[in-house]
Amino acid sequence: MVECARIAVLVSGGGTNLQALIDAQGRGEIPHGEIVLVVSNRRGAYALERASEAGIESAVVSRADYADAQAQEEALIALLEEREIDLIVLAGFLLILSERFTKRFEGRIINIHPSLIPSFCGEGMYGLKVHEAALAAGVKLTGATVHFVNEIPDGGEIIAQKAVEVREGDTPEVLQQRVMEEAEWILLPRAVEAVASSLA
Ligand code: GRF
Repeated sequence: MVECARIAVLVSGGGTNLQALIDAQGRGEIPHGEIVLVVSNRRGAYALERASEAGIESAVVSRADYADAQAQEEALIALLEEREIDLIVLAGFLLILSERFTKRFEGRIINIHPSLIPSFCGEGMYGLKVHEAALAAGVKLTGATVHFVNEIPDGGEIIAQKAVEVREGDTPEVLQQRVMEEAEWILLPRAVEAVASSLA
């Protein structure tokens, strides 16, 4: 039981979903949670700038600083535990987490994926590849999914989904942008608040 969930956002890149969370928090839309930590596995990720501009503590847990992937993950776990994190949000975080990690924080890790799961998801399906696959399949609707994270990539329980239209002439880049604007940036803050309030 927590009054206000301490949230860590894990990132690898640009961090527009992190920004959507920061903005939603600023508007008072995440009353049951507070983003207290941003962790990147990539030094130089622009998401780190966003954290610093918002006055949020950030850290880098880069593979280059550890002997192997397990040591890196252990450092990540230690950091999250030290900061007493209640809810972990993967927002464009490209490391696959081991079962040890997902079991440790069971029911407290969520991810955003830019398709309607179970379509166009799983290992290796990230970034533009997801939208390329949607266009190649000729689907007329795609979208975004927020789900709990377990040991199966993109395989955990679905929390929320939002559909987005695919239009004639879409390129993967155009579709990616529309999915972000019309689905991801709206869905993620709402799902975070819903999960945070369920922990309260
Ligand atoms: C988003 O499309 C998200 O769904 C996926 O990775 C991308 C991250 O973008 N998991 P950003 O770093 O939030 O801008």
